Amino acid sequence: MHLTAQEERILAGEEGHGRQKAIELLVALGDIYGARRLIPIASAQVSGASFKTIGDAGILFLEDFSTEAKATVTASLNPLGLDMKRWRSMGVDEEFHSKQARIVSAYRSLGIDPLYSCTPYLAGNRPRRGQHIAWAESSATVFANSYLGAMTNREGGPSALAAAIIGKTAEYGLHLPENRTPRIRIEIEEIPEGLVPLAGYVVGKIAGKRVPLISGPSLTPDEHKAFGAALAATGAVSMYVHAQKGKKTGIDTSSVEESMSLPKTELVACAESLKGDDQWDLVAIGCPHCSAAELKRMAKFLKNRRPRKDSDVWFCTSRTVFAKCPNEIAVLKRFGKVLCDTCMVVAPIEKMYKRTASDSGKAMVYLPTLGKQRTSFRTNRALLEAISR
Ligand code: F3S
Repeated sequence: MHLTAQEERILAGEEGHGRQKAIELLVALGDIYGARRLIPIASAQVSGASFKTIGDAGILFLEDFSTEAKATVTASLNPLGLDMKRWRSMGVDEEFHSKQARIVSAYRSLGIDPLYSCTPYLAGNRPRRGQHIAWAESSATVFANSYLGAMTNREGGPSALAAAIIGKTAEYGLHLPENRTPRIRIEIEEIPEGLVPLAGYVVGKIAGKRVPLISGPSLTPDEHKAFGAALAATGAVSMYVHAQKGKKTGIDTSSVEESMSLPKTELVACAESLKGDDQWDLVAIGCPHCSAAELKRMAKFLKNRRPRKDSDVWFCTSRTVFAKCPNEIAVLKRFGKVLCDTCMVVAPIEKMYKRTASDSGKAMVYLPTLGKQRTSFRTNRALLEAISR
């Protein structure tokens, strides 16, 4: 890989041990994937923020690293294992909190913004079309590539942190235009109400590592958020191309090797297979974190209804969005907890609940494994009806 004179100096340790370790990681990745050079990035987004996912070894690594290095570009952090203000009422114990506090402190020293969200693009870290970025959170990378038109690979936590410190990433994968062209075309005739997340869930399984071209109904930004999160959870690809059915797009389809259709019946069958039962300890909404529009829509629906209280309810969002929606939060709080900084997957949910219902395709993948939950998929509307009367 070709390095500039300054990059060579960093690699030789002339700008400190922390920057040396960071560039070593980027160069090693670049060599593995055949990158020709490092390229500047507009921002980074770092995962590996919850004590539940990184453990004691992660704390020691971050504390050590935080004395030696600092981010040089805008960099934000993924959700933590708790709400920084309401962790006690969530049911998180003192020990988890104190470990989480050490992680937060180390990331602050590293110069990573305390955004604590998987939707940084709704909370101040929103890249522009064509910008190269180094983001780690899978749902955010797919949104950035597919909806915002930015360019990023799905980084690991350490590589996103290294990119934040150097301000560069290795140029391979989705940073190269030739790897962003669709290889499979999937026609979706219709998506039943509330099943957009499952359309992503099914498409991810079909597409695997191939960038899919989705020809189907138009999607709102929030639907793209839910679709992409599920697609990146069941598939290994961090990008799709969306074409609204019947509209001219100008998308280059010369690289498409296979075409197929995804009938509505398959989405209904997927919903049925993920339905589970009606016995829930927790209803979890906000994977990925809710947008202001989603909070508004749910508050409007619930405003004149009363809570049922059959199960706990979590609405997860970023603190930035939370601060913008005081009236909606006041309504939602009558029905459950509106949590910031965290989510149902990276919080230690397994210590609190056993059975969780959610409207998220991504949560259907990770709650049974990372969260040890028995899950039930329901549409957002069905969940709101279930928690209210
Ligand atoms: Fe976000 Fe947690 Fe889902 S990080 S995408 S709410 S698993």
